[in-house]
Amino acid sequence: MKVTVGLADRSYDVVLANGARHDLAALINERAPRATTAALVTSQGLSEQDWFDLQSGLVQHVVTVPDGEAGKSWESLGALLEQLADLELSRDDIVVGVGGGAVTDLAGFAAAVYLRGIALVNVPTTLVGQVDAAIGGKTAVNLDAGKNLAGAFHQPLGVLCDFETLATLPERERLGGLGEVAKCWLLEGGFAAELAAVSLHDLIVMSVSLKASIVAADEREGGRRALLNYGHTLAHALEKVALARSADELRHGEAVAVGLAFAARLALALGRVDATEVARHDEVLDALGLRRALPARCPTTSILDAMAHDKKAHHDLTFVLAGAEGFEVVRGVEPRVVADVLESFRGEQ
Ligand SMILES: NC(=O)c1ccc[n+]([C@@H]2O[C@H](COP(=O)([O-])OP(=O)(O)OC[C@H]3O[C@@H](n4cnc5c(N)ncnc54)[C@H](O)[C@@H]3O)[C@@H](O)[C@H]2O)c1
Repeated sequence: MKVTVGLADRSYDVVLANGARHDLAALINERAPRATTAALVTSQGLSEQDWFDLQSGLVQHVVTVPDGEAGKSWESLGALLEQLADLELSRDDIVVGVGGGAVTDLAGFAAAVYLRGIALVNVPTTLVGQVDAAIGGKTAVNLDAGKNLAGAFHQPLGVLCDFETLATLPERERLGGLGEVAKCWLLEGGFAAELAAVSLHDLIVMSVSLKASIVAADEREGGRRALLNYGHTLAHALEKVALARSADELRHGEAVAVGLAFAARLALALGRVDATEVARHDEVLDALGLRRALPARCPTTSILDAMAHDKKAHHDLTFVLAGAEGFEVVRGVEPRVVADVLESFRGEQ
């Protein structure tokens, strides 16, 4: 199965299959025929997995970076760039990001800035990576002031989503990924009853197709791409409140699931949808096994404060919301309404 991200002369395919990783050499040969060296960027733990048997067809080096969010720092970026230079990668050579969104965000940023930009291929190995992070060209590291505040757009030459790599994914990471899948299913108007006939692989393909079509229409998030932030206004605020306490308290996808349930309630309160839309959201989240209750110890005032100080927001409360015309970005939502809906949402639990 292939999904094309249509970006004129920078178009590329996302290959989705068991064993897709074995296409790496052919992909590089076709898209970067002058490359002689590949740097496979990954974490130590992932490099020890049985499925880490990638063959680029070139002189290849495995370069390890710290696992997870710890890798998305200036220090890791600098160390990675120094290693690429030590390996004498040239402008014709290639970086291959192998891992979850943290690895592909870091590897992609390094590829974007090393020698002012060299080729990149992503081999995402988490559900979040396959349905979201590895596709679309956004790369980033975190700053002390917040997540993903420094980065670059740098599209890969191709993305290999190998379902076999997901076999070793911890359950919590799988559930986190399902939060983003639920977002896509809801944006596509799907119902819970239809999920019974759909496999996880089908859901990945559906999510990738949606993301590819949105990125092709709006690469730099001037308009439609913002729809992919559905559920994320509350999710980012919850992450900010919860992660200030502990790095492991809340996974991004878990926060997105709560954000989706909340967004449906906010749309209802604003008279944009009726109660059937709230029920559709709840049923889809339940069917995917996602919790939709507000996490403990996230008071409404702290959530509103986090939303108001979101560095990537537009200085007012902005949500993607369902409505008569479909989903759209709604700016300037009254904080009082958000607070009321949060309180009644909390009261449901
Ligand atoms: N660039 C984008 O468009 C975009 C989109 C969404 C998310 N992101 C970023 O992605 C990151 C989150 O990505 P994530 O959820 O993949 O988390 P992650 O990359 O931190 O991976 C989570 C954990 O799973 C492990 N892991 C990865 N693949 C595995 C496998 N196959 N088997 C066993 N363990 C495996 C990792 O080593 C890590 O410990 C965040 O930093 C987020 O900002 C970026």
